[in-house]
Amino acid sequence: MRNNNLSYVKEVMIKAIKEAGFQVDLADLKLERTKQLAHGHFATNVAMMIAGLASVASAKEGKAKQNPRAVAEAILKKLDPKLFTKMEVAGPGFINVWIEQNFYSKVAVSIVESIDKMVQEVLPVGFAKGTMVIDYSHPNIAKPMGVHHLLSTILGDSIKKTYRKVGWTVVADNFIGDMGTQFGKLIHAIKKWGNMAEIEKDPIPNLLKLYVQFHFEADKDVELDDEARAEYKKFEDGDSESRRMWEKIVEWSKLEIQPIYDRLGVEFDQMNGESFYEDKMRPILDEGRKSGVIVDGKDGAWIVPSDNPDEPPAVMRKADGATLYVTRDLARIKYWEKMWKPDLMVNVVDVAQEFHFKKLFEVAEKMKMTKAKNVHVPFGRMQFKDGSMSTRKGNIIMLSQLLDEAEVRARKLIEDKNVELDEAGKAELSRVMGIGSVKYSVLHQNRTSNITFDWDKMLSFEGNSAPYLMYTLARAKSIFRKAALKPDECADFDLVLSDDKETKLMLDLMAYPESLERAARDFKPSHLANYLYELAQDFNAFYNDLPILQAERELRDSRLLLTSATVKVMEEVFGLLGLEVPEKM
Ligand code: ARG
Repeated sequence: MRNNNLSYVKEVMIKAIKEAGFQVDLADLKLERTKQLAHGHFATNVAMMIAGLASVASAKEGKAKQNPRAVAEAILKKLDPKLFTKMEVAGPGFINVWIEQNFYSKVAVSIVESIDKMVQEVLPVGFAKGTMVIDYSHPNIAKPMGVHHLLSTILGDSIKKTYRKVGWTVVADNFIGDMGTQFGKLIHAIKKWGNMAEIEKDPIPNLLKLYVQFHFEADKDVELDDEARAEYKKFEDGDSESRRMWEKIVEWSKLEIQPIYDRLGVEFDQMNGESFYEDKMRPILDEGRKSGVIVDGKDGAWIVPSDNPDEPPAVMRKADGATLYVTRDLARIKYWEKMWKPDLMVNVVDVAQEFHFKKLFEVAEKMKMTKAKNVHVPFGRMQFKDGSMSTRKGNIIMLSQLLDEAEVRARKLIEDKNVELDEAGKAELSRVMGIGSVKYSVLHQNRTSNITFDWDKMLSFEGNSAPYLMYTLARAKSIFRKAALKPDECADFDLVLSDDKETKLMLDLMAYPESLERAARDFKPSHLANYLYELAQDFNAFYNDLPILQAERELRDSRLLLTSATVKVMEEVFGLLGLEVPEKM
């Protein structure tokens, strides 16, 4: 164990606890940051824990109770005073400790030298590494990407990056909706009212028009839905005309969505849409029938009955033989298992599909398809704070439109701030800041609540926003430009903590692996985002109050080391959130 991280401090404590005659496991020792540095850098309740446990034991033996403060005092006596420059017993038996600055110096240096190595060394014990396959974005194609696709796309990509960072092997898949009854409607509409050559001139908007027309007409003509269903069945049975149309639609759609992914900087390893599983469902259905998991339902449908009498069964095949969304999802699980033997299978999908996933996972379990843990990572709805971009009936707000708007607003913000950049620089910064603001606005909110989209808040240099963070990072980086130094060149500097603002910043930096791990464990990029905001605020407090380049030699070096470590951690978290780093602002 290297002596440059919190685990080391914990081990030293465990040793002292043992010497004082007590026994605690490393995993049970909690070392928390204090609210105020006046109460130490860290506090632990371990003495209370020991006294509590001891009391239970001694009560059984009829012995006197242990006093937590006495336990704390006993431990304190054994703590190494070279590492802990100050210690005290507080309240009912907390132990507060202050740590010597050489230790922090080593932490800062390890961040500057190699943040990856530092993370790997510090990641909490017990965070087993493995293989994950994750599905996100997955739009239903033949339509433009709408704003509602943003959440899954952005959250999923950040979760992928976070797991890669903590050492997992991650396969990113995009289960696009390129099959399903909506294609029956579309193909039917094309045959009835459209013309492929005409559509090709501006494919996606034209397809959308036909789709909207279908729904409009279907409201009046009840036959239409049945005809579309029959059309879909024909397609599934391989009708060549329908197939040709469908292939074109898929091709056009892929051309439509790729530029959005490029703009967002979102990447996938696979794009195995629903149609990829077309020929993989039959064997599964057969297998399920054979093992008795899939049985006959009403009118010849094939179902998996529910264990809960209040819940409907999962329909795996309709009476007419057509497969369903859930059947394709099941085939996907089987395929993922065969290809990657993952430990985790993750779907980042709207909370509205909670029931779908519940049923799907139940069926997969009954069919013993995988040992992997299946996780549905849900998120709430996207809401606009003001009426801007509100949708009229039957109208979707296009994602590309939203990104354009963000860049325009970012440009205005940049103009208002009078940043010293030439035209090309401003254009680039508008892009980085506009796209970054949209992403950050999604990522910093708790995904389990509704996500509010507030233009004013997200495109501001104040508060928890991408421009604030970008500005802070650019500012930190500019110090090195002024010093004609590279952040890496601070690796042999020593830390001198002369002010609480420095200590606070240092403690933030040290907490990075912990928030990384939390974000991974909870599938919540918001932990990282809020960590980043906290770090940026503490950096700004440090920067605003303390001279860096003007300070005398020792302090100057120390502050440069702190700034360098801040740049490293911030850049790292920017990467995980998919934010680009502006060079200059
Ligand atoms: N394409 C689907 C929709 O837009 C979402 C797919 C989610 N992923 C999955 N494996 N079911 O509703």
